[in-house]
Amino acid sequence: MSESNDLLLDHEADGIKELDNDLPRWWVWLFFLTIAFAVVYLGYYHVFRLGPLQAGEFQIEWKRGEAIKAGALAKFEATLGRLEPSKDPVLLTQGQATFLRMCAPCHRADGGGLVGPNLTDDYWIHGSNFVDNVRTIMNGVPEKGMLTWKGVLKPNEILAVASFIYTLRGTHPPNPKPPENQQQPVKPNIYE
Ligand code: HEC
Repeated sequence: MSESNDLLLDHEADGIKELDNDLPRWWVWLFFLTIAFAVVYLGYYHVFRLGPLQAGEFQIEWKRGEAIKAGALAKFEATLGRLEPSKDPVLLTQGQATFLRMCAPCHRADGGGLVGPNLTDDYWIHGSNFVDNVRTIMNGVPEKGMLTWKGVLKPNEILAVASFIYTLRGTHPPNPKPPENQQQPVKPNIYE
């Protein structure tokens, strides 16, 4: 490029010179577009507050999720009276995994009882039939230290773990926790 090039600026560093080129049109338009976008964005979200911000979006999504959860739970509760322990081996394996992870610390891995009562004998505090168990697991007995699981486990997970503990009945593990305030054996409805 010749010295007479009128685009050439008059400074130089170690032989490197600078050309005063125009920026490409498309680039300049893109730049103006980003400015226009920023103005619209600022006005829409921050000045006139026409749309929800991040936290608001989260609240909306969260409420939607809660509604889905409440709906599923209500549907489950509506079918509760007709529930029977599942014999599906896949579901029982899932139930066992849940039991070992979340229930065994209080009820012992074999269901023999620790902080929580023995789940293998004929003595029950909150009713011996399967649906009683499901209800106790869902609602818990917070004042006695049994957690409320319906906020933690999904309906099918509750069904799975309840079906699993149903299989522990009558298994006679060693050193079981003796019956406490469940004085009366409630047979014969244990196998309902
Ligand atoms: C933090 C300890 C704790 C954990 C964890 C726990 N439980 Fe319990 N559970 C208890 C206690 C304590 C009771 C007795 C409540 C009472 O005395 O009314 C109980 C009672 C029960 C009963 C009713 C027993 C009866 O005699 O009527 C069932 C069924 C039961 N738990 C199942 C479960 C399942 C399933 C899980 C896991 C998803 C679980 N528990 C996790 C402490 C716990």
